[in-house]
Amino acid sequence: MKAVIFEGAYEVEVRDKDRPGIAEPTDALLRVTTAAICGSDLHMYDGRTAMETGHILGHEIMGVIEQVGPAVRSIKAGDRVVLPFNIGCGVCFNCNRGLANFCLTVNPEKAHAAYGYAGMGKFEGGQTEYVRVPFADFNALKVPGQPFDEFEDDFILLADIFPTGYHATELAHVGPGSTVAVFGAGPVGLLSAYSALLKGAAEVYVVDRIEERLALAAELGATPIDIAKGNPVEQIKDMRRSNALLQDRLRPGEDKMGGVMCGIDAVGYQARSDDDYERENAMQVITHLASLVNPTGHIGLIGVYMQPDPGGGTDAEKQGIYPIPIGQLWGNGITIGMGQCPVKRYNEFLRDLIIDGRAKPGRIITHRIRIGDAPGAYAKFDKRVDGYVKVLIQFR
Ligand SMILES: NC(=O)c1ccc[n+]([C@@H]2O[C@H](COP(=O)([O-])OP(=O)(O)OC[C@H]3O[C@@H](n4cnc5c(N)ncnc54)[C@H](O)[C@@H]3O)[C@@H](O)[C@H]2O)c1
Ligand SMILES: [Zn+2]
Ligand SMILES: [Zn+2]
Repeated sequence: MKAVIFEGAYEVEVRDKDRPGIAEPTDALLRVTTAAICGSDLHMYDGRTAMETGHILGHEIMGVIEQVGPAVRSIKAGDRVVLPFNIGCGVCFNCNRGLANFCLTVNPEKAHAAYGYAGMGKFEGGQTEYVRVPFADFNALKVPGQPFDEFEDDFILLADIFPTGYHATELAHVGPGSTVAVFGAGPVGLLSAYSALLKGAAEVYVVDRIEERLALAAELGATPIDIAKGNPVEQIKDMRRSNALLQDRLRPGEDKMGGVMCGIDAVGYQARSDDDYERENAMQVITHLASLVNPTGHIGLIGVYMQPDPGGGTDAEKQGIYPIPIGQLWGNGITIGMGQCPVKRYNEFLRDLIIDGRAKPGRIITHRIRIGDAPGAYAKFDKRVDGYVKVLIQFR
């Protein structure tokens, strides 16, 4: 079977690999119909993880069950499913509490496991034709319909970025009427903004500097903020200050709440410097959020901060240690949530919103390719050029 294989920094190859089989009675074998490329794959592509070469990439996977092991009870050959990117056992202390993103038993080295990902166990990825699904009863979400129907592009986003965007809004305590700023208009930032709007947030700002991504944010109903036009924190505060309706309703002292209540970092440790897009400044977004989020507000760090990071600028950064403005955050009583998304906590109800026509996350997909085009798509997505926002590899 053909597979997208990590061969080192800026090198992915499409090569033949042996098709996996059923190794444990609780396994299923999935015939992949769509696998997406994720911003998280780029950390490996950029050589910014401890990923070994020779592995199949890809953790956003859906398809049709080909075969199940003798212990699998709730799914069968022919079922159409999407896989949460985290692999859980379903029965450990954390899985039992709904936190399969910190499963304690699937990966012997850490409390994390995922397909095709650095530091998350030795599981092969899904940018290929067939994938072994461990603990298939727990790790496969059934979806209706047929491959490549009108929902394929929506359902594939249930593997990671739709639940992840939703989780970002949970970390940032977004609810009806909330004021929200999302940094990063990549797929995760866009679906964080979309989730905030689904929840009924009042104001949703999305910050980036890539025009086509900001245009997508506007299409979803958010207010785009272009870093190229000036300091994004000041832009948002000015916009709120110059809105007469917002100003007219203030009681004494409320001018001290001129920012937003909910901040989301959908960029992570590879954040670019506002002054020079070619340069990284891992603390750029957190520094802005510390100034933008009002006293008593909430921040969700959904973008990844990687440890170890072989490409970190300093010894501390190589170990994932950063100088965050903790005094300012503490002084304002800000809560911060972070970490990998527990996909299974959200994927069922988000699936049902899609089926019901209330959510259409597939609107952000820009490219559908064949597997042979994956190396070129990685290169363009990595440079964020030519409108590459979300790429699906289809196996028709
Ligand atoms: N926590 C999780 O479970 C989880 C799951 C999936 C992805 N992620 C992470 O989310 C992050 C975003 O991934 P993505 O798929 O959206 O792709 P992406 O990496 O393309 O998106 C990042 C966006 O941030 C923008 N950006 C860079 N510097 C910025 C700055 N200083 N201010 C504002 N915007 C800036 C870029 O232009 C880009 O559009 C990555 O770190 C990814 O690993 C986390
Ligand atoms: Zn992903
Ligand atoms: Zn578990």
